[in-house]
Amino acid sequence: MSTANSTPNTSSNAFVYFFGALGGLLFGYDTGVISGAILFIESDLGLTPFLNGLVVSGILLGAMGGAALAGPLSDSLGRRRLILIAAVIFSVGAVGAALAPNVAVLVMFRIVLGFAVGAAALIVPLYLSEIAPTRIRGAVAALNQLMITVGILSAYVVNAALAPYEAWRWMVGLALIPALVLLVGMYFMPETPRWLVSKNRDDDARDVLHQTRTDEEAEREVREIKEIESREEGGLRELTASWVRPALLVAVGLAVFQQIIGINTIIYYAPTTLTEVGYGNQAAILANLVIGVLNVLMTLVAIRFIDRIGRKPLLTIGLFGMIASLSTLGISSLVLPAPGSPTDPVAIITLACLAVFITSFAATWGPVVWVMLPEVLPLKIRGAAMGVAIFLHWAANFVVSQTFPVFLDSLGPGVVFLGYAFVGAAALVFVRTFVTETKGRSLEEIEADLRGRSVAG
Ligand code: BGC
Repeated sequence: MSTANSTPNTSSNAFVYFFGALGGLLFGYDTGVISGAILFIESDLGLTPFLNGLVVSGILLGAMGGAALAGPLSDSLGRRRLILIAAVIFSVGAVGAALAPNVAVLVMFRIVLGFAVGAAALIVPLYLSEIAPTRIRGAVAALNQLMITVGILSAYVVNAALAPYEAWRWMVGLALIPALVLLVGMYFMPETPRWLVSKNRDDDARDVLHQTRTDEEAEREVREIKEIESREEGGLRELTASWVRPALLVAVGLAVFQQIIGINTIIYYAPTTLTEVGYGNQAAILANLVIGVLNVLMTLVAIRFIDRIGRKPLLTIGLFGMIASLSTLGISSLVLPAPGSPTDPVAIITLACLAVFITSFAATWGPVVWVMLPEVLPLKIRGAAMGVAIFLHWAANFVVSQTFPVFLDSLGPGVVFLGYAFVGAAALVFVRTFVTETKGRSLEEIEADLRGRSVAG
């Protein structure tokens, strides 16, 4: 209790939030880098289309495994320790993939990296959400998405810079640097107070809370966490308890809809779509960088508004933007003549629609989903339940990324993008029907409300 005082220490908080979120950067970099690297891996290692698919999507398969394991592990080992383990796997994966002598070894290390990506997708938002004070919890937890987008953009920039040298091994290997920074930085960061209380380490939890709260706030929070704790059974059995079901439904729905609305048809394939509507390779890569920058900037907008406007209005506004851009893209591809150059109407409309889509996603669904997952789920099963939702998130990502090129080829962009617009409409119904606001309420209040509703219902 030596650190107790009446004013929180804000400079050390910045470190906690930075290192807590840094795993997101590796998630973004490792998933984003392959779009450029694959061009050179293909010719260097002589990939067949099947092997090409495996190199690209191996990370998604690994991420499904990582998410499934990270849930229970984060509950038993602790949030901080699991981030450290993920940092080691990120480092090993980066070196292994960079030095891979053949495609089998490369695929293996892409799967290994996937485990770390899947684990980070779960543990980073969980850590941030549990460590942040209520009033800024949305903004702090959204730092995860900010880091993801910065990671994706860094990958695009590294790809563009190293493309003339065809240096794919450096592209994938450079991920070692942030992985080591994460490992060293996280070593000095605290465990979350909620996990500590769940392991009966109340004094340790108080110490952590005193770094970011006043004495009074810290005491109140420990009391609230303990009270919620004492009511729960915990364990996997609780995952199927009827009072938990509405929360699980919201978590799974948000995690899956965020993928099946088609975000990664843009993040992974925008250059392909743009070359199909008449852009040259250079122009497409440049436009891709613009998309990467928009993705980062609009996430900053979300961070500013998430604790003021709230989560649910952002989800709704984002869907309007995404549905509008997807339907415009779909309809214009169906009715306008096929483009031959970047100045043809369809080519201009396509670029504008991709920009509106990414803007709408980045300012809303990108961060909000990661912020809300830990918020809606009860403490004792938070890790395990997030594991279920995030496993399905990666499975959905895998299905979309595998089917998009096939659908584009067989159905054409018009039908494909209208299909995603339809998914957006379904997401809107889902949000309006099932999602409740979490802004401004402590995690314990949200949980008490969930229990109350099940008793009342
Ligand atoms: C999604 C990723 C996506 C990224 C784009 C994340 O929230 O989970 O699949 O590539 O946002 O910024």
